[in-house]
Amino acid sequence: MIPQHLSKSAVRSYLKAIDLPDLLNELGAQNAELLAKEIRHFTEKEAKKRDKIVLSYFGEKGIKQIVNSVATKLNASPKLKQSAKILDVGAGSGFFTARIASKLKKLLPYSSFYAMDATPAMLLAITKKKEAITPFFGVAENITRSIRNAQRYARVPNKFDAAFSTLMLHHCTDIDRVFKSLQQVLKPAGKAVIIDMCTHSSNEFKEEMGDVHLGFDPEQIEKAAKKVFSKVTVEKLPGICCSSSGRCAELFVATLRA
Ligand SMILES: C[S@@+](CC[C@H](N)C(=O)[O-])C[C@H]1O[C@@H](n2cnc3c(N)ncnc32)[C@H](O)[C@@H]1O
Repeated sequence: MIPQHLSKSAVRSYLKAIDLPDLLNELGAQNAELLAKEIRHFTEKEAKKRDKIVLSYFGEKGIKQIVNSVATKLNASPKLKQSAKILDVGAGSGFFTARIASKLKKLLPYSSFYAMDATPAMLLAITKKKEAITPFFGVAENITRSIRNAQRYARVPNKFDAAFSTLMLHHCTDIDRVFKSLQQVLKPAGKAVIIDMCTHSSNEFKEEMGDVHLGFDPEQIEKAAKKVFSKVTVEKLPGICCSSSGRCAELFVATLRA
């Protein structure tokens, strides 16, 4: 039987034992070759310093704005229950997961947090955070199958009260599949908040940051999300941008109801 709380060393052993090509295949990852290339990028260039990279993109003020925006929108009416189960999709090093968990825990003391990502090295970084977060390997295009797989090693629920994702969507080839996959793991009244970049023209982001999309038009996100979510709002986050090497991309925030 899987213990209620795996020790950090047990989680690390699980993450280190992951056989990527096999697992991507088992999870039915779309465009597995491209995803494997991205995973190499995140393992070699970002995992160990992702927290510092995020700070360089937004500064403390921008980070606070992102954290507040996600936490406020997740807990807007109808409020989340005290024991809400909340998933971060494409959590990276857990930089935002930890901050959002810490903020929401003050309002929802019995809530629990889960972090899914396709880069094991990023998930290893999450095990070093002080907040109680359950990391597990998975692909955003098939979260249900990712959960089933992770349940062999960790206690992960089948459905969540809420989910969020920051700066992951532009790494996914098929955003329709991501929205569908996300909707499938939310409880009937579940909600999700997604923050990502608006369309920009910095082609170098593809090389420097392993990006697949040069951001999205908010209208494009609204149209895609409305195919599966009952209520969708997409707006630009005012006064903030993702800046790297002197270039800047605006952000949008999408609020979705299952
Ligand atoms: C730019 S980082 C963002 C990480 C974190 N959310 C943050 O804001 O710092 C993108 C993350 O998405 C993950 N990722 C990319 N494509 C993915 C996919 N198809 N399924 C799950 N995770 C994915 C990468 O491994 C990486 O950790």
